Amino acid sequence: MLSLNQIAVDHGALRALWEVSLEVRTGECVGLLGANGAGKSTTMGAIIGLYPLAAGNMTYAGITHTGRSTSENVAAGIALVPEGRRLFTQMSVRDNLVMGAYTPSARQAVEQSLEKIYALFPILKDKQQQFAGELSGGQQQMVAIGRALMSQPKLLLLDEPFIGVAPLLVDEIIVALRTIGQQGVTMLLVEQNIHRALSFVQRAYVIENGRTVLDGEAAQLLAHPEFSKKFLGLE
Ligand SMILES: Nc1ncnc2c1ncn2[C@@H]1O[C@H](COP(=O)(O)OP(=O)(O)OP(=O)(O)O)[C@@H](O)[C@H]1O
Ligand SMILES: [Mg+2]
Repeated sequence: MLSLNQIAVDHGALRALWEVSLEVRTGECVGLLGANGAGKSTTMGAIIGLYPLAAGNMTYAGITHTGRSTSENVAAGIALVPEGRRLFTQMSVRDNLVMGAYTPSARQAVEQSLEKIYALFPILKDKQQQFAGELSGGQQQMVAIGRALMSQPKLLLLDEPFIGVAPLLVDEIIVALRTIGQQGVTMLLVEQNIHRALSFVQRAYVIENGRTVLDGEAAQLLAHPEFSKKFLGLE
C-alpha cells in the first residue's frame, strides 16, 4: 500500500532524514520506533505531505511520486493523528471532528462518520458540545483519532497517540484501534513504549538518526539482542 524508498527530508539547513525506507502492506498494522529526535514525526510528516522530499520517493496505492500536497494525500486516503493532538481547544468536540471531513466525499458522509466515531468512543457523544480543551488527555486523543477518521482514511498514521493518556484510557484506545483495523484501515504507529507498540503491531521498523536501521516481526524484534540492548535497556 505504501512504501518509502530511501527518502531524505531537510528541516531548513538540518537534514532530519537521511535514508528512510519502509513498507506498509494493506491491512497491516506497522510500528515505527526510535529514540527522541530519530526522525519518526518527520517521517510521518513526509508521508502526509507536510515536508517535501530532498531525495528518494514514495509509492502509495501503486503510484510512485516524490511528494504530493497534504490535501492530495488526504483525498487519496491517508490521515494523520499528529503528535500532541493539535485540537482546537476552544471549539466543541463535534466541531473538531467535523473539521476532519474536508474532502468532498467525506463532507457528504459527515453524519454517518460521526455515528461511527461515537460508536468507537461513546464518551465523545456525551461530550460532543463541550470544548475540546475541557476533556482529559485521553479523551482529547480520542477526538484527534476521530478527526482523522472523519476523512475516511485507508491508511491511518498515528504519532505517539498514548502520550499524556491515563492507563485505563490507553486500553480503551487500543481496543478502538483494533476495531478500526478490523474495519479495514491500515495503520502506521509511532510509539515510545516498545512493549506496548510490539504487543499491538505485527511488524516494526526502527529508525536511528534519520536512517532505518532494523526491521522485523514484532516477536523477532523483541528477541533481537541489539534491539533489546538499544531500546529496552537490557545490556
Ligand atoms: N520543524 C522543525 N524544524 C527544525 N528542526 C526540526 C523540526 N522538526 C524536527 N526537527 C529536528 O529533526 C530531527 C527529527 O525530529 P523528529 O521530530 O522527526 O523526531 P522524533 O523521532 O519524532 O522525536 P520525538 O520522539 O521527540 O517525537 C530532530 O533533530 C529535530 O530536532
Ligand atoms: Mg515525534
